Amino acid sequence: MDEDFSLIEYYRRRAPEYESVYGRFDPEIENENQVTAEILKQYLKGRRVLEVACGTGYWTHFLSYTAKEIKATDINKEVIDLAKQKKFNCSVSFQIMDAYNLAFEDKKFNAGLANFWFSHIPKKRINQFIKEFHRVLQPGSRVFITDNHNFQLSGYLGKLVTKKGDENTYKLRQLRDGSEHLVLKNYYTINELVKIFSNHVKGFSKSNVQSSKYFWRVVYELD
Ligand SMILES: C[S@@+](CC[C@H](N)C(=O)[O-])C[C@H]1O[C@@H](n2cnc3c(N)ncnc32)[C@H](O)[C@@H]1O
Repeated sequence: MDEDFSLIEYYRRRAPEYESVYGRFDPEIENENQVTAEILKQYLKGRRVLEVACGTGYWTHFLSYTAKEIKATDINKEVIDLAKQKKFNCSVSFQIMDAYNLAFEDKKFNAGLANFWFSHIPKKRINQFIKEFHRVLQPGSRVFITDNHNFQLSGYLGKLVTKKGDENTYKLRQLRDGSEHLVLKNYYTINELVKIFSNHVKGFSKSNVQSSKYFWRVVYELD
């Protein structure tokens, strides 16, 4: 099955149970998420933000305390419908949209947010995504991206699967309805992140990557 379609379908079906991932596994993970929320709020304070793959609006909600306005986008209507039920503290609007094909004019926003999306990008599409993301950001924009390290925690979101001759890795995940999904999920070292983003961001270095036990955060400003 096409890997993008499988991913979209998995998150469409996971929508009602998605947020149980937050607060379910480990107090340390929750502490790290709180740290991420605070850094995000400070880094994108006062900005007009484009959020891609916003899901149920978990991070949109935190950021709405400090951002000027947020355009939150995701390819799945089911997650956006849930996000819309949240209360936000700045102007937030939602739009169904493919992260690889953003329906905005060039340089429309002055900040970009992409949380827990990067790991789901097939490696061959990473440059395409970053170019498209940057296209709609004006010079001086700030970007915030966070995602998981490859940590092992009992019961945490499925077994890692590799396929012969495939540069991507996958997680075998089960939903509450019993359905099983092989979901593309890639993990990166700090050096790999530096290599990827250096191709797109002038002066990008290790100082742009914050790393903790469970998560990494990439923060940078565009020229
Ligand atoms: C791991 S969730 C992250 C949701 C949210 N950012 C968060 O951190 O809670 C990944 C999201 O990517 C969305 N998605 C999958 N393929 C997409 C695409 N091509 N364009 C935009 N969103 C996509 C899914 O619908 C899902 O909501």
